[in-house]
Amino acid sequence: MAKLIYSAITSLDGYVADKDGNFDWAAPSEEVHAFVNQLERSVGTYLYGRRMYETMVYWETAHTRAESSPVELDYAEIWQAADKIIYSRTMTDVSSARTRIEREFDPDSVRRLKESAGRDLSVGGAELAAQAIKDGVVEEYHLFVNPVVVGGGTSTLPDNVRLDLELLDEHRFSSGVVHLHYRQTDANSAAS
Ligand SMILES: NC(=O)c1ccc[n+]([C@@H]2O[C@H](COP(=O)([O-])OP(=O)(O)OC[C@H]3O[C@@H](n4cnc5c(N)ncnc54)[C@H](OP(=O)(O)O)[C@@H]3O)[C@@H](O)[C@H]2O)c1
Repeated sequence: MAKLIYSAITSLDGYVADKDGNFDWAAPSEEVHAFVNQLERSVGTYLYGRRMYETMVYWETAHTRAESSPVELDYAEIWQAADKIIYSRTMTDVSSARTRIEREFDPDSVRRLKESAGRDLSVGGAELAAQAIKDGVVEEYHLFVNPVVVGGGTSTLPDNVRLDLELLDEHRFSSGVVHLHYRQTDANSAAS
């Protein structure tokens, strides 16, 4: 069965964006970006919260920008080849191919998707991921911990949840970013 993976670039104090919504510190170095590309090559479907989609849709047209580096062009290809499901109660149009909107996050439909999918799924956007985690449908975590403390903002992981995790892998990058790969050891213990 395909897995659902939560992947996030986080500050050391556990935020994906600071109190002003700023996440410029999260921009990956070329080395981190190439590593992310390798991880995401196996993702067949992205589940995005509306706000994360608004950032990620950049990759739909990145190949048309002269300034895109080879590693960015590679990511654009990976992103464009995957299906995207956007969760939003307000969005009416999407600006990428292979993309559809869902009005509610339904864990049972995600479970069915995992059973029928040939490739893994990834969830992005902290608010959406929090629901998936609490509903017990996330199996693995890829956290890229940046050497920065931002003092508050959008939490990478939800409050009031207990997750027992096994560390599967870790990797240190020259920029000081650390990648941590975890598997949840008890998928039923997520509910708050
Ligand atoms: N650290 C990084 O690398 C990085 C990268 C990109 C972006 N960011 C930032 O990180 C933040 C993204 O996380 P986020 O938590 O703010 O937002 P998010 O999870 O990406 O999106 C939240 C939105 O998703 C929709 N949504 C959530 N739950 C839903 C449900 N059950 N049913 C239907 N729709 C649902 C709602 O959209 P509607 O309001 O349309 O209903 C909600 O406002 C943003 O501030 C973003 O700019 C960080």
